[in-house]
Amino acid sequence: MSEHKIIIAIDGYSSCGKSTIAKDLAGRLGYSYIDSGAMYRAVTLYFVRNNVDVNNATQVAEAIKDIHLSFVFNVQRKAADIYLNGENVEPYIREMAVAERVSEVAALRDVRTFAVAQQKRMGTEKGIVMDGRDIGTTVFPDAELKIFMTADPDVRAIRRYKELAVKNPDITIEEVKQNLEQRDHIDATRKESPLRQATDAILLDNSNLTPEQQLSMAEEWVRQRTGAIADK
Ligand code: DC
Repeated sequence: MSEHKIIIAIDGYSSCGKSTIAKDLAGRLGYSYIDSGAMYRAVTLYFVRNNVDVNNATQVAEAIKDIHLSFVFNVQRKAADIYLNGENVEPYIREMAVAERVSEVAALRDVRTFAVAQQKRMGTEKGIVMDGRDIGTTVFPDAELKIFMTADPDVRAIRRYKELAVKNPDITIEEVKQNLEQRDHIDATRKESPLRQATDAILLDNSNLTPEQQLSMAEEWVRQRTGAIADK
């Protein structure tokens, strides 16, 4: 176990496998894993269900007041499920209706202020792995380990297609790729904490790495910082 607990921030493009490495690392270290994207997706689901107009600042501000997000650990998934006003919305937040709108919602200043404040509170005791787009730059600028992930766009599209096709057999790789490209563009060019690599983040391109290979690289980076994770 770790001598002292650290914060691990994992950022990067959509569908680079951030959650896989984050979940694996958290499991190895006994840390909690928080998927910050789930928060933006749950807010988006609320907006979709309640027809909140992203261009109407009053509607957005009112909606945020009505939103309460919480995480409850799910033993089967080995990760926390996100709850929107007491409802487990994990089954709905990965659907295309949400994926198509989430970047627009995540670009809103009020939404980010709301989400980032809660994310910062979750890190006060350290021992956390959080993945997202602005974790190393905005949420935890002092995180002891920052990883910025990238992968070939085709590799990423195929990975996400395989996940989505289980529930949506009609979906095409082209649709998935377009959605990824569009999200990356909005995420990287928005005004409020855009997606970018923190100057002190390690760049990890996992196009040709297996989950086991990337995990052992990340474990080594943790070991260098804490002495944690016993040698195998
Ligand atoms: O990681 P994900 O694909 O589930 O994230 C969904 C969207 O949320 C993504 O398009 C960008 C946004 N996001 C963000 O702006 N900041 C974060 N820290 C995490 C996600």
